[in-house]
Amino acid sequence: MCGIVGYMGPKEAAPILIKGLHRLEYRGYDSAGIALINGNGKLSIYKTKGKVANLEKLLSDKDVSGCVGIAHTRWATHGEPNEANAHPHLSEHNNIALIHNGIIENYKALKEELVSKGYHFYSDTDTEVIVQLIQYIMDTHKISLTEAVPQALANVIGAYAIAIIDKDNPDVMIAARKGSPLIVGIGKDEFFIGSDATPIVEYTDKVVYLEEGQIALMERGKELQVTDLNKINISPVVKKLEISLEEIEKGGFADFMLKEIYEQPQTLRNSMSGRLHPDLGEVRLSGIIDNKEKFLNARRIIICACGTSWHAALIGKYMIEEIARIPVEVEYSSEFRYRNPVIYDDDIVIAISQSGETADTLAALKLARTKGAFLFGICNVVGSSIPRETDSGCYTHAGPEIGVASTKAFTAQVSTLALLALSLAKEKGTIDDATRLRLVAELQRIPDKIEKILKHDRNISMLAPIFTYARNFIYLGRGYNYPVALEGALKLKEISYIHAEGYPAAEMKHGPIALIDEELPVVVIATRKGKYDKIVSNIQEIKSRKGKIISIVTEGDVDVRKISDWSFEIPDTEECFVPLLSTIPLQLLAYHIAVVKGRNVDQPRNLAKSVTVE
Ligand code: M6R
Repeated sequence: MCGIVGYMGPKEAAPILIKGLHRLEYRGYDSAGIALINGNGKLSIYKTKGKVANLEKLLSDKDVSGCVGIAHTRWATHGEPNEANAHPHLSEHNNIALIHNGIIENYKALKEELVSKGYHFYSDTDTEVIVQLIQYIMDTHKISLTEAVPQALANVIGAYAIAIIDKDNPDVMIAARKGSPLIVGIGKDEFFIGSDATPIVEYTDKVVYLEEGQIALMERGKELQVTDLNKINISPVVKKLEISLEEIEKGGFADFMLKEIYEQPQTLRNSMSGRLHPDLGEVRLSGIIDNKEKFLNARRIIICACGTSWHAALIGKYMIEEIARIPVEVEYSSEFRYRNPVIYDDDIVIAISQSGETADTLAALKLARTKGAFLFGICNVVGSSIPRETDSGCYTHAGPEIGVASTKAFTAQVSTLALLALSLAKEKGTIDDATRLRLVAELQRIPDKIEKILKHDRNISMLAPIFTYARNFIYLGRGYNYPVALEGALKLKEISYIHAEGYPAAEMKHGPIALIDEELPVVVIATRKGKYDKIVSNIQEIKSRKGKIISIVTEGDVDVRKISDWSFEIPDTEECFVPLLSTIPLQLLAYHIAVVKGRNVDQPRNLAKSVTVE
C-alpha cells in the first residue's frame, strides 16, 4: 500500500518521479504529492487529493526544477484522503520532507510528547510524527539528519518504508525499511528509491532490496551506504532486476487487467518451464527436491493466504490431498496469526502471496516459525519479503501484475500448486506412473486450452451489458469448482462493486436459495468432470425459482446448456486442472461488466494491490 519513489542524480527529478508515481499508482491512489529541492536550495512541496493525474495538473504551472526529490501516492490509513494528509510531510522548520508506507503504532504517544515540546502538527496521519521526531532529535542533540534518523527510528513502533530529503543537505537522500518493502536502484551517478521495482526498471537493473531495520544513505558522488538501526555498516548486496519495462506497460490493451488475463497462456508456460517434463512424465521442483525429507515426513501442510491467494490455496488443498495424500489445512492468514493455532514442528506451513508482502501472511509465517514449522513460500514478486522469510519455496513466475484484481497471478499459483502436488505424489508414490504421465501431459496442454477460451472473449463482452442492472450475483460450484466460484465472485465485486457471493452449490438450499428470483443472475460452474449430475440438479432448483443462469460448461455439453439462459464452453481437461480453465470466463465476465459500468478496473475504489498493513 502507498507508493514511494525517490530520485537523486544529474537529471531533472520531477519527470522521473511523476512517471514513477504512475507506475506505482496501483498500490494506492487516494492522494499524491511530491517534494523537490530546487537548484537555488528551495524545498517545494505540492500535494493533491485524488490520482497522480491531479498532481500532474497542479504541477503544470509550477517550478519543478531540481535534481533530487521524493514522491508518494497514498492509500489512506490514518486520516481521510485530503491535501493535508497527503505525503510528503514536512518537519517543524520546513526543511525536512518525508514520505512513508506502513503504520506507526505508537504515533499518538509520540505526537503528544512532541506537541508538549512545542512542535506543531497539521495532519491526522501517523507519518507526521516520524519527520517531527527526526527534527526534534536534530534540534535537541544538535546532530545531523544522518545521525538523527536511526535514533528516531529506534523510538518508533510499527511498520515503515520511508524516504527523506533535507533542504540543507541537497546532496543526500535517506531511505529506511521495517515491515514495508523498499528498493534502492543504482544508476550512473544516480540513485532511485522505489516501494517496488516498477519506477526503477526503466533506468537501471541494479538494485538493493533493503532488509528489515536497514537504513540506506545515498550521497551524491559516493557509493550507497547501508547501516542497521545501531549504525553498524552493512555491505549492500546489489542484485539484477529481473523484470523488463515491457512487462509493466499496457502493450496496446485498454487496461492492465485485460492484458494480464490475456497473458495467462504465456505466464503458465513460464511458471511450468524447466519444472514440467512431459517427456519423462515428471515434475522437478527444486524447493521440494532440496527438502524431500521434510515433505515426506510432514504431519500435515497448513497453507496461509489472503484473498485470491486463499482461493488458490483451497484448490491446492484439493490437489495435494487427492494426488499426494497429505492432509492440508487452509487458513486465512489474518485469523491464523491471532488465534493461537496448534502448529507442530513437523508441520509445513506454506504461504501463498502474489506480492510476497501481505502483512498478515508475513505475520502468520513468523508465528509458525516460533513453533518450529518448516516454512515454504509460493510468491510472484522476486525478492519480496515472504520468499526471504521462508526456508524454501518456489516463485510462480507470472511477471509483474499491475491490475489490482489478481488474474494471472492466481492461475500461476494454481499451476505451481499442481506442480507441487505432482512432485509430492512422485516422492510419496501415491499415484501410479500411468496416472502421473497422463496428468503431466495434460498440464502441459493447459496454456493452449486457455488460448482457445480467450477466443470467446467477444461473446462474453456482448453478454456484459445485460447485467448492469444487477445488484447481486451468486456463483456456485462443487469440488474443484467451489474455490473457482469464490474467486469469480471476488473478481466481480472488487471491480464492478456489484455484491457477489460464492457458494458450494449444495449449500444453496441451506439459505442462499431464499435470494433467488427472476432478477438474480446465478453463475454456475458445471463442467463435466466431478459431480456433474448433482450440479445439474442444483441448476434445476434455481431454474424452478426463475433464477437467471449463466453456466460454464465443458465443450459439447447438452444438458446444462439446455437449462441455462447463457452458457460458455471450456475445453475438457482432468478434473484437478479444471480451475485453470473455468476461472478464465469468470475473469472476463467480471472485467466486461465492470467496463460497461464505467469502473476503473485497474484501480478499483478503496483497494490497493499490496496489502502491507494488517
Ligand atoms: O499479494 P497477495 O497475494 O498476498 O494478496 C492477497 C490479496 O490481497 C489479493 O489476492 C486480493 O484479494 C486481490 N485484490 C484479489 O484480486
